[in-house]
Formats: sequence, structure tokens, C-alpha cells
Amino acid sequence: MTRYHEVYAAWKSDPEEFWAKAAQDITWYKLWDKVFDPYMGEYGRWFAGSECNTAYNCLDRHVEAGNGDRAAIIYDSPVTDTKQTITYDEMLHKVATFAQVLADRGITKGDRVIVYMPMVPEAAIAMLACARIGAIHSVVFGGFAAAELATRIDDCSPKAIVAASCGIEPGRIVEYKPLLDQAIELAEHKPETCVILQREQAIASMIDGRDVDWAAAVAGTEAEGRKAPCVPVAGTDPLYILYTSGTTGQPKGVVRDNAGHMVSLKWSMPNIYGIEPGEVFWAASDVGWVVGHSYIVYAPLLHGATSILYEGKPVGTPDPGAFWRVISEHKVVSLFTAPTAFRAIKKDDAEGAYIGKYDISHLRSLFLAGERADTDTIQWAEQKLKVPVIDHWWQTETGWPIASNPLGLGRMPVKYGSPTVPMPGYDMQVLDENAKPVAPGETGTLAIKLPLPPAALPTLWQAPERFRSSYLTELPGYYTTSDAGYMDEDGYVYVMQRTDDVINVAGHRLSTGQMEEIVAGHRDVAECAVIGVEDDLKGQLPVGYVVLNAGVNREDGEVEKELVQLVRTEIGPVAAFKNVLTVKRLPKTRSGKILRGTMRAIADARDWKMPATIDDPAILDEITDAMKARDMIKGS
Ligand code: COA
Ligand code: AMP
Repeated sequence: MTRYHEVYAAWKSDPEEFWAKAAQDITWYKLWDKVFDPYMGEYGRWFAGSECNTAYNCLDRHVEAGNGDRAAIIYDSPVTDTKQTITYDEMLHKVATFAQVLADRGITKGDRVIVYMPMVPEAAIAMLACARIGAIHSVVFGGFAAAELATRIDDCSPKAIVAASCGIEPGRIVEYKPLLDQAIELAEHKPETCVILQREQAIASMIDGRDVDWAAAVAGTEAEGRKAPCVPVAGTDPLYILYTSGTTGQPKGVVRDNAGHMVSLKWSMPNIYGIEPGEVFWAASDVGWVVGHSYIVYAPLLHGATSILYEGKPVGTPDPGAFWRVISEHKVVSLFTAPTAFRAIKKDDAEGAYIGKYDISHLRSLFLAGERADTDTIQWAEQKLKVPVIDHWWQTETGWPIASNPLGLGRMPVKYGSPTVPMPGYDMQVLDENAKPVAPGETGTLAIKLPLPPAALPTLWQAPERFRSSYLTELPGYYTTSDAGYMDEDGYVYVMQRTDDVINVAGHRLSTGQMEEIVAGHRDVAECAVIGVEDDLKGQLPVGYVVLNAGVNREDGEVEKELVQLVRTEIGPVAAFKNVLTVKRLPKTRSGKILRGTMRAIADARDWKMPATIDDPAILDEITDAMKARDMIKGS
């Protein structure tokens, strides 16, 4: 029997009481004046007037409770052949020491620090060190290029950047330092300090007066026995900024506060994920994404669990048994990853033969998120792993699941295609364009009645107007998720597609609008459209359609190659922008809007109707022929 209905009803009848009770699992310097203050911020703020420290709750608290010898982080890196267990005691020592290194460089409460690092323990140490001294971190994913890093530097004006000399991708070393130097060159804002973790795979050259060697700085501070204490911050102060793709080249700086974030994440560990303190939880994501922030670093540590930090891939490091090896060696009880990782494993090991080589008997559940989970993948995982497979839906903006099957409250019946039901905190509605609820089964915009729950974004970094216009104005009184979908008679949610031009490539959130801006900037391009087409492995892939300027006379495919390189240089390899098709004209409505939806339907080989407003129907035939000639229609 699930307790979900009872718990959800308890939240709905008195949300403040519900969250105040959950907040008892957190240690506070000062309790809140108001559990929820409706007059503060853009739509109200949680735990107004409280004081706390997130790093204290992640580390000190467990050490003080006598659990210092418990493993906090297990670093497993097949790409460097390293395994390291860091206890809570050791983690506290490392974090407090590094926090002192930052404090010695003048970083104090409210200062921003960019963290540009691969999946190494120092990434989590840097994040927690910032939290300890009240600095606001902003982690930038390693697969982003210099220009993306520069945009973030200018937006959040960090006093310091903490980076590694390199990341390691299968078969290639990604040197971060030249990208960092280039980004600082490009940015108008210049950070005062860069702390560089030198990795032996690529030793970076250092800039005198600005760059500090991580190991040397830590060794010096350690020798002097200096450690930074936890700084009390307002519960409503930002813990971090995490940039995510919007509809333009300017990413959105999602702000996460301290108090609400701790309360929701701590609540989610036993109730949604069914995890006890001391158990091993593995989010196979990257600290550069929200899943990494919430479920590699903060939630497991807030809960006193052990978190796996895995520097590798699901396949190729060295084989499709990589996940099962990690699960068996470290006795993982719950795995959280994106469906694409399972599609990659299934592609290389359809029979699941590698699973049999390992003892994965500790595994109790698999959670999937980041993109729509297809039924084939879920069923394959269910059959091969013989554990509940739970699709759950969330966004960078919310920081924790909007809808899930709450394992800890008792599992609900699975309906394939649905991430199950809204979690407490989320009053989920399906609305039409007039903000009126639609009937069960009918599709509309998935919207959350305000206020958002604790942990969800209170605003965008220094952009309250953009926050309001992006999320709150379309449907007054609601937060619009920009996902379309429906709810059935039983209250199960179905998330069908984005309503904006955000796409999900291998679980990575990208903006086709941003790619269009870059492609349109090429001197030979007259106009273009970038659309996300279905892909069996990565879920979606971006494809560019370009019309060249009249009179451009270049070798076949030359401009296309340049465009691929341009997007790789501007956004980074993670954009996976590898397909460009030159066409004579783009299909448009009579008012000049490009018919991206129709182009997507053609590429995905779905049924489509001739749009009534089309300007020239012949263009769709031209495009279809051009796609066919290049095998760019699904299944062709
Ligand atoms: N630093 C530098 N480059 C990176 C990178 C990083 N941290 N992560 C990815 N890249 C590069 C890849 O090397 C690849 O480069 P290439 O074009 O030269 O081959 C490119 O970015 C695209 O990466 P990706 O889309 O991840 O494809 P992939 O073929 O390398 O791997 C999967 C495919 C499915 C194995 C991989 O995407 C994966 O493990 N996904 C899990 C999803 C996930 O973690 N989602 C996060 C939210 S839960
Ligand atoms: P991100 O901000 O990177 O977490 O991406 C959020 C977007 O990913 C959502 O708005 C959805 O479009 C999509 N998404 C995440 N999880 C799911 C899911 N379980 N089912 C369907 N779509 C999902």
C-alpha cells in the first residue's frame, strides 16, 4: 500500500505545516520568522528570516553525530583507473581547508565562484567550500566551449574560478585550461584568482599573479592547520547559480537558495528515493548538470548517505558492464541516470550478458530522468535488472522531482509513458492558453500553481523581469514548465514535449534557438532553422537547415562543415551538432514563420498535415527530397 495519497493530501491541506515539519531534519542557526512569506521575492520565499549553512548540514552535522568514518564520496574513475573512498571526516577536512584557501583569496559571503571541472572529488569539494563560506558557486559543465564559459563569467561576475587542467573523454584529453584562458580573454569581467587542479594527464601552464595551484595552496594551508568555519547565511540567500538553456544564446541563471533546497532534498531521499543514511546512492550524471548538483553532491550528503562520483561512461569505459561493475563493487542500492545511458548499454549488450558477470543484488531501484523515458528502455531495464524502474520528471528550475513514483512512500502502480504523480509541493495543473484547466486526458501546458515548493528557483540571477516573463506571465498565478502533456483520471502525469525550442540531447538540455543564432552568424548563410529530430540513442539530435546567400559559390558541403565546427567552437562538443542540410528555401507560413514543427514531423517520419497557412506548399516537397537524398528521414 502506498502512503502517497495520504502524504500528498497532508501537504495540500497545510503546506506550511508540511514543510515546517520536514525542516526539522535540518540544523538551523536561527529558525524562520515565516515558513512562507508571500510578500518576499517574485512569488514569495520559503523559510524567510532563517539562518543556516548548507555545508554544515552536509558534513559537520554527520561528523558531530559520530558518523565521521562513514564514506561520504566514493570516486570511481575508469578513465584514470582510480578508486578513492572519502569519509565524512576526510571530506570535512578537505572542504574546510579549501574554503580557507578561497577565504585567503578574499572570497567572502555573496561572492560568486565559477567551478569548471570534470567529475573529480575536487569539484564537490569546491562546491561545498563555497557553501561553507557563503560564496555562491556556479558550476559550468566541462563539455561547454570557451564562449559559453565567457557568457557565464560575464553574467555572474565571479571573483574566482576553480578549474582543473583537463577532463578525460574516452580516447581524448580535453584541456580545460586553454578554454578557461580563452574564456577570460573573451569576457569583459576578469576574475581575480583562478585555482587550478593540475591533473597529470595534461599539466596546464599558469599565469603569474592570477593562477594558483590547488595542491600547493591546500598543502600550505594544511601545514598551518587553518580551516574556514561555517558562515551562517540567510536561508533565502543563494547557494548556487546554475545556467541552463533558454530560447536564446543567453542562458538562464537559475538561482537556488540554501534553506528550501536543503529541506526538499533531504525530504526526497527517504520519501522519493527510499534511501537510508549510510546507504550507497549513485547518480550517474555530471556535477555540471542539476542532477549532479542535487543527487551527486547535496541530497546524499544532507542525508548522511554515500554518493558515487563516477568519471566514466555507461559504455566504452571499458565496456557495457561499467555500471554493473560499479554497482557490485560499491554495493549501490539505487542508481539514477538518463534513459539515454540505458539505450547506449542496450545497443552494445542487447542481451544484458554483462549484467550476469557482476553481483548487483544490492540494487533496489533505478530512477530515470532528464528526457522522456521510452517504454522499450524501461521494460528492458526492468527485465534485466529485476528492480523497480522509475521514470521521474524534473527540471533544472525545480531542482528536485516534480512528478515521481515515490518509492519511500510505497510504490504506486506503473503506467508506462508516465512519470507517475505530482510530488507534495507541486499543485500540478494542465491548462489551455487562457489558463483554464483542461479535462483529464486532454493535452495542455503543464503548469504548477504558485507558489513553487521549497528548492525550486525563486528567481533568475539578476534578471527578475526575465524570470517573470519566462515563467510567470503566460499563465497568471502559475509557473509554466514549458512542457506540454496531460493528466489522466488517476492523476498520473504524461510529459509529451517542450513547448519552446529547448531540446534534450543525450539527457543534455540545449537550445535550438541558440544554435540558430550561431549558424545565422556565418557570412554565407542567408537564413536557417535548427530543429530537434528523434534519435534512437540520444533521444533527440539537432539538425540545421540552411539557405545560402545568393551568389555564394563554395565546394559542396564546405559551408556545412564550417557550421558544424562553428557550433562546436561556440557551444562545445556537447551540442552534438553534426548534421546540416543546405536547401534552396525554407517552408514558411504566409506571415513568414518557419514551419519547424512540420519539418520535424517529416524528419521523424510522422504523419503530418499540410499547414493551412503555408505560403508555398512546393517547398515541403523540395525539403523532403533533400532530406531523402541525404538519408535524413527516420528509418530511411
Ligand atoms: N567534457 C568534454 N566533452 C564532453 C563532456 C565533458 N564533460 N561530456 C561529453 N563531451 C563530449 C563528448 O566527448 C562528445 O564529443 P565528440 O562529439 O567529440 O564525440 C560530445 O560531447 C557529445 O557527448 P554526448 O552527447 O554525451 O555523447 P557521447 O557519445 O560521448 O556519449 C552517452 C553518449 C549516452 C554515453 C552519454 O551521453 C551519457 O552517458 N549520457 C548520460 C546522460 C547524462 O549524464 N545526463 C545528465 C542528466 S541526468
Ligand atoms: P533539465 O533542465 O536539463 O533537467 O531538462 C528539463 C526538461 O527535460 C524538462 O522540461 C522535460 O522537457 C525534460 N524531462 C526531464 N525529465 C523528463 C521525464 N521524466 N519525462 C519527460 N521529459 C523529461
